[in-house]
Amino acid sequence: MKRIVILISGRGSNMRSIVEACAVERWPARVVAVISNRPGAGGLAFAAEHDIATQVIDHKAFPTREAFDAALAQAIDVQTPDLVVLAGFMRILGAAFVRRYEGRLLNIHPSLLPAFPGLHTHQRAIDAGCKLAGATVHFVTPELDHGPIVIQAVVPVLPGDDEDALSSRVLAREHLIYPLAVRWCVSDRLRVEQGIVRQVDGASQLLLPA
Ligand code: GAR
Repeated sequence: MKRIVILISGRGSNMRSIVEACAVERWPARVVAVISNRPGAGGLAFAAEHDIATQVIDHKAFPTREAFDAALAQAIDVQTPDLVVLAGFMRILGAAFVRRYEGRLLNIHPSLLPAFPGLHTHQRAIDAGCKLAGATVHFVTPELDHGPIVIQAVVPVLPGDDEDALSSRVLAREHLIYPLAVRWCVSDRLRVEQGIVRQVDGASQLLLPA
């Protein structure tokens, strides 16, 4: 059984979709811990109710980013994970941390990367007049919101969309692509060659609008 550690900062709906798919689809894996950098993160309760170890490493308790990253790495390593999954984890991680988990560190970002790295992705897509938006699951590299792309989901931007409407449409697709990407990882179905990720069974790495 592969061991998955999930890092969250908030409500944890992506974490929940992964925990549920792991159980229902009987992955050769287990979510062994959910770690939050925020004490009030809503997702912690869900994890605890599902007998998953939870821990808070509050970034405010550390004088520097490096000290926080080191404490976080220590908490993760206790769990001897095969895969570390960032699911709405809203802290920037330093290069040393990222390198430590390179190749086994996944993130989901609510845009069609490389467009709109960073924050406020939905409003920026609306303001730019984009007709398509979406989400990207990628391996994490030291450069923020970059790294080899595992799967993307595309949704239309509809006339009259505000940030809330677009983010809900994207989030519903995040809940489909993130479990899929994690399942591929724990089943050894991904290969990365020269920065390009391939699913070895040839499964589509693009989820188009329903
Ligand atoms: C998701 O939309 C995720 O893509 C985004 O935060 C939300 C977390 O929701 N992540 C980022 O913006 C990372 N840069 P959740 O806590 O319900 O999974």
